[in-house]
Amino acid sequence: MSNKMWGGRFSSGPDAIMEEINASIGFDQRLYKQDIAGSIAHATMLAQTGILTQADRDAIIAGLNEVLAEIEAGTFTFSRSLEDIHMNVESRLRDKIGDAAGRLHTARSRNDQVATDFKLYVRDTIDILITQIETLQLGLVTRAEDEADTIMPGFTHLQSAQPVSLGHHLLAYVEMLGRDAGRFADARKRLNESPLGSAALAGTSYPIDRHMTAEALGFDRPTANSLDAVSDRDFILETLAAAAICAVHLSRFAEELVIWSSAQFGFVRLSDKFSTGSSIMPQKRNPDAAELVRAKIGRILGALTSLIVVMKGLPLAYSKDMQEDKEIAFDALDSLSLSLAAMTGMVGDLTFNRARMHASASAGFSTATDIADWLVREINMPFRDAHHVTGQVVALAEQKGCGLEGLTIEDFKFVDPRIDSRIHKVLTVESSVASRQSYGGTAPANVVVQAARWKTLLTGQPHDPRVLAAKKHGGHGDGGVE
Ligand code: ARG
Repeated sequence: MSNKMWGGRFSSGPDAIMEEINASIGFDQRLYKQDIAGSIAHATMLAQTGILTQADRDAIIAGLNEVLAEIEAGTFTFSRSLEDIHMNVESRLRDKIGDAAGRLHTARSRNDQVATDFKLYVRDTIDILITQIETLQLGLVTRAEDEADTIMPGFTHLQSAQPVSLGHHLLAYVEMLGRDAGRFADARKRLNESPLGSAALAGTSYPIDRHMTAEALGFDRPTANSLDAVSDRDFILETLAAAAICAVHLSRFAEELVIWSSAQFGFVRLSDKFSTGSSIMPQKRNPDAAELVRAKIGRILGALTSLIVVMKGLPLAYSKDMQEDKEIAFDALDSLSLSLAAMTGMVGDLTFNRARMHASASAGFSTATDIADWLVREINMPFRDAHHVTGQVVALAEQKGCGLEGLTIEDFKFVDPRIDSRIHKVLTVESSVASRQSYGGTAPANVVVQAARWKTLLTGQPHDPRVLAAKKHGGHGDGGVE
């Protein structure tokens, strides 16, 4: 009989609830490949060290390969009463090979087994994410090469500040993503020690060879402390932290795409493939994909927060609390992967409206700083005074209802008689951007060099900036320019 207070949905007593709260097979079945690889490495080692006969080893490995094939073919029946992937696989192995299956679990525990499986999974996922990040970077670099000379407003406080190269803006994200890939690679390095053979918590009395299983599974070495090995979840916390930071970067770029694709900005047009319509307003092109990428940080950071709270205060060694690590981590890493793919798609075929960006870059007296710099450079004015004089120039332009380039030399002389006609050279957005040649600055000449540097890093092929410069305005991949 189910509990009258809360058992309505259960057909039997507390054991059904126990099963529901306890089982992880609903989500950890995803670890089947890693679980079977770990078991094959373990069985091979047990035979090598004389703990298992060769005949048992052969039966176990053949049986595990059959189980793998069944799972991949979708014919395997996962059972909740068998709790998790480890016991589901082992139980099926027993169906197939009988008692020898029971020898597989010699000198290990589910505690070291799950830590091993999950590390292998996270390691594989990190490798995929790094590749995805690099693909997105390459997409951005390719667009940046073509947009080195495209001028857009640069913003601070989302107010027009100084004109910049669109290529430079795109390469800013390439830098962020480069650090993201580096963080994942760092996490992978620390992760890559094998817990297998730590057993339940204390190690084992069998003469196992942990170096052998570590090597077979591609780990750099076995973990050095069995208590730590079965209770360490740093590897997923670090990976989620890297994922959260990467998701923040994607979120910032997604937000820019949302703003830029609005009618008011009109800087970009997302392709039909990455836009949706409105069921009521026929004119709408909504940037749903960008909005969803912007939002995914919520669940990714949520996973990091959840798991770090789960781990807080847990006594050594393994506690079942740690089973809560997988479901949210899978969701977070899937979300990041999908976001990277969506962003790569959007970047590849969005269209930049160069004319619109240029017009916007010229508005708002965006070359005012260039006037101040000219006053410092050419008539040796202290920067603070130059700032003040330029403010008067801007006020005059505002009064006359023109841009800075619309002012005559008489206008300038009215503000400060020392200004001469050379000032006109620095008033265009082109000259402003071209002059920012300090290392890391926005000058197109710099952008071309940085794009080439990244292309070399990402493809392993040297890219000569002069070749790139010649190719500029050549083609735009899938995307185009209005
Ligand atoms: N399903 C468990 C988990 O994900 C496997 C480890 C179980 N260990 C145990 N002692 N009950 O954490």
